[in-house]
Amino acid sequence: MSTLSLFDNFPPEIEQLRQEINHHNYRYYALDDPQITDADYDRLMQRLRELETQYPAAITPDSPTQRVGATPLSAFTTVVHELPMLSLDNAFSDEDLLAFNQRVQDRLKITDDVEYACELKLDGIAVSLLYRDGLLVRGATRGDGTNGEDITQNVRTIKSIPLRLAGTGYPAVLEVRGEIYMPKAGFNALNEKARAADEKLFVNPRNAAAGSLRQLDSRITASRPLEMCAYSVGWVDGGTLPETHSGILAALKTWGFLTNRETQVAKNIHEAMAFYRQIGEKRNELAYDIDGIVFKVNSRQLQESLGFISRAPRWAIAYKFPAQEESTILLDVEFQVGRTGAVTPVARLQPVFVGGVTVSNATLHNRDEINRLGIKIGDTVIIRRAGDVIPQIVQVVETKRPTDARAIAFPEHCPVCNSPVETVADEAVARCSGGLVCAAQRKEAIKHFASRKAMNVEGLGDKLVEQLVDLGLVSNLADIYALTREQLAAMERMGEKSADNILTALENSKKTSLAKFIYALGIREVGESTARNFANYFGSFEALAAADQDALQQVPDVGPVVAHFVAEFFVQESNRVAVAALRNAGVHWDNIEVAAPEALPLKGLTYVLTGTLEALSRDDAKAHLLALGAKVAGSVSAKTDYVVAGPGAGSKLAKAEELGLKVIDEARLLELLREHGRQV
Ligand code: IVH
Repeated sequence: MSTLSLFDNFPPEIEQLRQEINHHNYRYYALDDPQITDADYDRLMQRLRELETQYPAAITPDSPTQRVGATPLSAFTTVVHELPMLSLDNAFSDEDLLAFNQRVQDRLKITDDVEYACELKLDGIAVSLLYRDGLLVRGATRGDGTNGEDITQNVRTIKSIPLRLAGTGYPAVLEVRGEIYMPKAGFNALNEKARAADEKLFVNPRNAAAGSLRQLDSRITASRPLEMCAYSVGWVDGGTLPETHSGILAALKTWGFLTNRETQVAKNIHEAMAFYRQIGEKRNELAYDIDGIVFKVNSRQLQESLGFISRAPRWAIAYKFPAQEESTILLDVEFQVGRTGAVTPVARLQPVFVGGVTVSNATLHNRDEINRLGIKIGDTVIIRRAGDVIPQIVQVVETKRPTDARAIAFPEHCPVCNSPVETVADEAVARCSGGLVCAAQRKEAIKHFASRKAMNVEGLGDKLVEQLVDLGLVSNLADIYALTREQLAAMERMGEKSADNILTALENSKKTSLAKFIYALGIREVGESTARNFANYFGSFEALAAADQDALQQVPDVGPVVAHFVAEFFVQESNRVAVAALRNAGVHWDNIEVAAPEALPLKGLTYVLTGTLEALSRDDAKAHLLALGAKVAGSVSAKTDYVVAGPGAGSKLAKAEELGLKVIDEARLLELLREHGRQV
């Protein structure tokens, strides 16, 4: 509803723009189906801002430009919830869930199936939003359920919360309840920024969401990537609502709220249980954290008959997933030395079950991380294992620190070879200066050399490499080619058959490609794709070894850091000797014919590959394009020249079409490659 009076003579474009913007918000948040690009949306907002600057009297509080408050608050005021905000009873097993269903049936005196709305239990902060005549008038936290805090200024900054309801048919008074949370990607980006600025990190997305809502200055809240998902209604007056919970969610969606799209209705408790498992399996892939599934009796009439006990409804239950955070004790810290000499502190923990597995180690990353956490040996710590991410220590419980807690001493000498540990200014990582003198670095270098994507010596696994180095049978890369059948057969868990297999694998590995050989050397910052770029650009090992830093930086995706490490690698005599020894042992490859860089036919063009390619692997297609001088990017932007789309291409193709880019199929790509003399 507009508050403009009839006598105000403002350009109608202002109200039209607001409606248009609100419509696109609705498409974007409620329907998850935007009709315009972000850039077009920004242009509409920009135009509205201009007009409102010109006609300040036309500004209304529900204008989409008015999300961020100008003046910070001095304190939050208290809100008394008209209807208390309840919590949920928990289930931790199928038995608990079946018992809940039984209680529901018993209380209703029925034996028929009960229909349940199944929703994700979002791990964020519960909020209440009050709308009067369709306008957002108050946002509040749950607080203790009876008294919350007024966070209206802050909730207004969250774009998935409508300032004015969309559609029609909403009650005159409508309190919407839901969860405000921070999606994982936004959380990671926020913490990365904080880490770069040496600021305190947030422990998890929920804490980050809570901290963001607790800001007195709504400009800070506005800068945080928060979302709100509506999951129920509270106080309602002057209107009616659908008869089922799922119906209410559907209505909330038409009024402009984001409702969770995984939500489903289960015919009975068994279907509900299947839903729990199905979501459990994809929990890690979801864009946000959840800690369980909430089941709600779908019929509102049945909900009413069931009523409440103390602080929770009898008609709903939260079936929890295994916790992703647990506390345990830091028993000790050990220091591991990696392939590049990086000395990494590893926490030895009292084993704890978290995120579905037992965790007894966690990385502490580097010295800065130890300082940031302020951690000591003996401390009680909080471990987080979300998804497949390696377990992290996110917090120290300082109140539980024992009196005999010990400080962590970062070693000044390598724990493996005793060479001095060095820290380069501006780098968080400390490194053992021993190079290949250090057995730890040697082991890692050989493991890397033999690995599948490098020389691919099948059977020469990590354990075997460690034994061979420990016994002094291998001390440099080429030594692996001098191993004898007797030496190999004498190793633990080896027989003559396995020894023979390894000898064959070693022999086969000698014929490799230039790209794989460059990658296998383990030059710092030179991963598989950079190695491939070097091979395609220089064509021969000699040309790469002779290149100076400027020449190296001509290679696609190579900047000063990579160029520095490559040049430094070839300056060292020991590395040149190691390469010569490998070639003497018979390692060989075919050189690649390269044209002079100016003559590269696709120079200056950027390609993106998406969907499935059938004749070529993605890596090969990329290698051919790079060899012709093209750049191959991972994402589509206005800078992309061609998108090669195979079957199953999704969002990248859609974006290419939206940007009006040239799209070709695999057949056309093959033609193009052949035209330029590539054999495909
Ligand atoms: S319903 C009377 N639905 O879980 C029912 N709660 O203890 C009250 N939560 O703090 C809540 N997702 O913030 C409901 N889909 C969902 C939810 C959800 C997360 C949170 C809620 C509350 C806690 C319940």
